[in-house]
Amino acid sequence: LQSSTFNNSLLEWYHSNKRDLPWRRTSDPYKIWLSEVMLQQTQVITVIPYFTKFITKYPTLQHLADADEQALLKDWEGLGYYNRIRNFHSAVKDVKENYNAEVPDNPDEFFELKGVGPYIGGAVQSIAFNHLLAAVDGNVLRVMSRLNEDSRDMTKAGVQQSVKKEIEEIIPLEAGDFNQALMELGATICTPRTPKCIMCPVQEHCEAFKRNTVNNFPIKKKK
Ligand code: ADE
Ligand code: SF4
Repeated sequence: LQSSTFNNSLLEWYHSNKRDLPWRRTSDPYKIWLSEVMLQQTQVITVIPYFTKFITKYPTLQHLADADEQALLKDWEGLGYYNRIRNFHSAVKDVKENYNAEVPDNPDEFFELKGVGPYIGGAVQSIAFNHLLAAVDGNVLRVMSRLNEDSRDMTKAGVQQSVKKEIEEIIPLEAGDFNQALMELGATICTPRTPKCIMCPVQEHCEAFKRNTVNNFPIKKKK
């Protein structure tokens, strides 16, 4: 998986096929960050109305920083994993106080904030600022396991780190689009069951497709 034709095919496909999602219509790092916090553990279709409500009620980082914690929790109701909004609130207050209410355009600073792990950090820094970092979620792990016929256990943290490094070796300057293209491919084409390989823009780069082993990947972890 080293080729610029892979990147070009994937990006070209993404540009013509990406879903029109509300967080793809903004370049505001605060809104992109909010969307990724919501999307980390919740499906796109569920996130959309919450995202819209939050950006209406809390249109800037400053608004969210100044919000009452109980009000935020109430607005989050139904999304689950409530530590996400608690951590986000705390991180946003930190940004207000220590970075003049501007989301740090510096991965080292951003990764210091509460709730910012490899996924959120990579997603926000690539999508908002085009830093060359991967954003590895479940969709991306599945796609990568099939592309490379990678039989490692994708639930293991060490394997996820290694996949992240592999992506960062090929990630192009349009890093945010590239990450979102991998996620989009996993969400719409390279789906968990019966992937639509016939419509896949990177079929010719896919080891599992070539060898007709798509259904064996990602491997089920041993019990
Ligand atoms: N899942 C996680 N991040 C996403 C994004 N930016 N667009 C669509 N789905 C996502
Ligand atoms: Fe996934 Fe099929 Fe595309 Fe391979 S060819 S990346 S298995 S959709």
